[in-house]
Amino acid sequence: MRNGISRVALIGTGFVGSSYAFALLNQGVAEELVLIDLNREKSEGDAMDLNHGIAFAPTPTKIWYGDYKDCQDADIVVICAGANQKPGETRLDLVEKNTKIFKSIVDEVMGNGFDGIFLVATNPVDILTYATWKFSGLPKERVIGSGTILDTARFRYVLGDYFQVDARNVHAYIIGEHGDTELPVWSKADIGGKPILELMAKQEKYREEDLNDLFVSVRDAAYQIIERKGATYYGIAMGLVRLTKAILQNENSILTVSAYLDGEYDSKDIYIGVPAIVNRNGIRDILELDLSEKETEQFQHSVKVLSEIKDKVF
Ligand code: 2OP
Repeated sequence: MRNGISRVALIGTGFVGSSYAFALLNQGVAEELVLIDLNREKSEGDAMDLNHGIAFAPTPTKIWYGDYKDCQDADIVVICAGANQKPGETRLDLVEKNTKIFKSIVDEVMGNGFDGIFLVATNPVDILTYATWKFSGLPKERVIGSGTILDTARFRYVLGDYFQVDARNVHAYIIGEHGDTELPVWSKADIGGKPILELMAKQEKYREEDLNDLFVSVRDAAYQIIERKGATYYGIAMGLVRLTKAILQNENSILTVSAYLDGEYDSKDIYIGVPAIVNRNGIRDILELDLSEKETEQFQHSVKVLSEIKDKVF
């Protein structure tokens, strides 16, 4: 923040990055937004296009295309750059390619004197958030991955649809890897204070086997979307804006993000999706949920899968 003006630097203006820029402008979250991309023409075009919408936005955002020098005064650097999944690929298939890309991006950002908060969205997000933390040397609290913020939003949406309740009144988390080993925390899921497992048991119209189908539809949502339109971007972009807002407005909001575990959930030296309190300083605290035995096992499996990959790369 320079002279009290909030600045977000966005690196990577592909589908996810440009959707994020659009959502940020529409929600009037930051005072300045700088777009950085290897393809300067693309980011220049995006800046022009977005600027033409300023007259319709709730508050003015100064938007321009720039370069790494602009990161120096940024409060948040959001990284959406890198290769994305092709149909049939898992998020973890992208690890090598994107780790290399991240080394050069993070070195450039840090070399230009950045001292804010990194928000990472590129997949595999848990590994690349770890990479950003390693490469940047910043405190763990100031390196945050989008983690399972989108999976949790998908979960709340499908549960809201199933129970015919506003998704915003559904409190339920997906934790673990943002990927195939993620898990639903059914034991802590509630709607307006009523545990979901209790609701299911009490009413005949709800069938227990539906729960698993609902979770699977969440876990595999990205595959379903990629098969149809080649990529996912609106949901993740809105999740990133939600996180940006929690940081810039010092909200202390609880969001499921990829956070560094240092003993929490009996796990160490790993970035993985957990509920955390997010504010102006980044991650204030990690919420350690009292998981059921099965959930603990599933979470540990997810940690193991990610740790194996992380240990190969670092
Ligand atoms: C998603 O879950 C592909 O990670 C992206 O939509």
